[in-house]
Amino acid sequence: MPILSPVLNKDEIEAIVTGIAENISFDYRSKNLVLIGVLKGAFVFLADLIRHLTIDVEIDFIGAASYGAGTVSSEQVRITSDITIDVAGKDVLVVEDIVDTGLTLGFIRDHLAAKAPNSVRICALLDKHERRQENTHVDYVGHGVQEGFLVGYGLDHAERYRQLPAIYHLKSE
Ligand code: IMP
Repeated sequence: MPILSPVLNKDEIEAIVTGIAENISFDYRSKNLVLIGVLKGAFVFLADLIRHLTIDVEIDFIGAASYGAGTVSSEQVRITSDITIDVAGKDVLVVEDIVDTGLTLGFIRDHLAAKAPNSVRICALLDKHERRQENTHVDYVGHGVQEGFLVGYGLDHAERYRQLPAIYHLKSE
């Protein structure tokens, strides 16, 4: 039986998201910002984040998959669905739910950098830094976590738990 042990409640998430949105609104106040959500997990975070921004932004999504499934991130990443907005000369901020090894975001960052944007930076709600393999710098981090598998607030395990309004550590008995 899986056990869900609380990591961040609704209020804690709201405070984190509000704080990140304030920083982004200030840093990009005179820029042409394109927020790119990484499917599927970032859709809840991105939806909340943009409603706390005080600047105009464009929104797009990118899909990436790593080979293999389960609770261990694998090493081969591919783009499953590309952005449709032309980001040439614009400032891109990739919005991700969680960074684990960093391989997915490293791949996405390089993929987007090839489209000639003015800048590419990264925002992640959760940073599981202990397993980092790739030297992927995360510019905006919501909350650092220890090893473990997290679900809720967009994060899934085998497509379940995304709808939960809080974030939990998924453990098996
Ligand atoms: P990375 O390439 O190892 O950084 O893995 C990033 C991707 O793996 C994220 O976009 C998530 O889809 C998934 N992932 C990594 N850790 C977790 C977790 O604890 N819960 C849910 N998904 C995770």
